[in-house]
Amino acid sequence: MKSPVIVSQAFSVGFEYPVVFTRGVFDASNPVLRDALTRRADDRRRVRAALFFDQGLCDAQPRLLERAKAYFTAQGERLELAAPPAALPGGEKIKNDARLAWKLTRRLLELGLCRHSAVVAVGGGALLDAVGFAAALAHRGLRLVRLPSTTLAQADAGIGVKNGINLGGVKNAVGVFAPPFAVVNDFDLLKTLTDTDWMGGVAEAIKVAMIRDALFFRELERSAADLRRRDAAAMEKTVLRCAELHLAHIRGSGDPFEQGEARPLDFGHWAAHQLESLSKNRVGHGAAVAFGIRLDTLYAWRQGWLQEAEARAVETLLDACGFPAWHSALDRRHADGRFAVLDGIERFREHLGGRLTITFPRGIGVGFETHEVDIAVMTRCLEDLRAASRGAAQ
Ligand SMILES: NC(=O)c1ccc[n+]([C@@H]2O[C@H](COP(=O)([O-])OP(=O)(O)OC[C@H]3O[C@@H](n4cnc5c(N)ncnc54)[C@H](O)[C@@H]3O)[C@@H](O)[C@H]2O)c1
Ligand SMILES: [Zn+2]
Repeated sequence: MKSPVIVSQAFSVGFEYPVVFTRGVFDASNPVLRDALTRRADDRRRVRAALFFDQGLCDAQPRLLERAKAYFTAQGERLELAAPPAALPGGEKIKNDARLAWKLTRRLLELGLCRHSAVVAVGGGALLDAVGFAAALAHRGLRLVRLPSTTLAQADAGIGVKNGINLGGVKNAVGVFAPPFAVVNDFDLLKTLTDTDWMGGVAEAIKVAMIRDALFFRELERSAADLRRRDAAAMEKTVLRCAELHLAHIRGSGDPFEQGEARPLDFGHWAAHQLESLSKNRVGHGAAVAFGIRLDTLYAWRQGWLQEAEARAVETLLDACGFPAWHSALDRRHADGRFAVLDGIERFREHLGGRLTITFPRGIGVGFETHEVDIAVMTRCLEDLRAASRGAAQ
């Protein structure tokens, strides 16, 4: 047989995008959004943009669409609206409806947006994921500028390289890795969050602190009460540090598009994603992550990876932040008595392919990967958390 002809192909593409922290992003004199949108445009051209807002955000801040429109008028020399700003459903609703993603992609094409135009997405992590997905599909990629409006999205979901939707009840089943053109975090947007969503970003902060940064964990212990009583300065500090750690990971991990087996930052997430599905999204991502951290912390202690005092410190911090220790959706079991949430382990493996790889803490501040979960021990951890929550309720 003739030997095959191989022309090897290799190239690398650099990515860069600013993540800017500001306030009053739509104040006529605030240059941050204009500068983000025009940073690669020559001085004579106006940048066309289409704006999509989270309906939940608009309900809480009714003048926002109008203010955004006025901003574009004030910055009319450099910016141009392709259409009046529009609102789309917020929360998992937008990610659960694949038709909506297609509709939105079509809309972007109808608006005549090109690869030099921008899609500006303003909202929670769910809206950003779905709009980012559509923006990546239209013309194989429009410029996406994200304005995250929840603590979780500013600290994590809105600053990274992943976009996508759910399909067939499977979370993030369909999507693309596509870095944004820019991210603008406006702290003022956070004021109207519900108490639960206000604390959502703190769950991700505890997660990343536990596997990356012991000092940050101590800082969170000190600020838990302030965070819970909605102290803006404490939240801004937390969001900023959490975002820095996530960005450092994407930049420095060597695997920003997750082609390997590991998801090194997804501590607590196998149970979190399954809990979100089991609860039909009544439990949001932040609260679900907090539960996942609680469960995997208990497991890590049972495996000897955490000392008892460390495991207790995590539990105390989660309690101080007001994260529930159990949710009724976790009571679901299969006919053989197995907790349904345990299916999340296989789902987690399937999502990345290859060997099961789950991150656990080994001491606070250090993460490591394991390829096995002892189901009997994990089941005991679930039984214990369930029993403790029953006890606390009585
Ligand atoms: N792409 C990623 O890397 C990544 C990372 C983590 C999480 N996520 C995804 O992010 C989603 C969770 O995001 P989330 O925690 O931001 O929740 P969310 O997007 O579901 O929003 C929560 C609720 O808050 C409302 N809302 C948004 N901003 C508001 C504001 N300022 N005031 C009042 N209400 C407001 C929304 O309408 C929604 O009802 C999940 O789908 C998760 O899978 C993605
Ligand atoms: Zn998460």
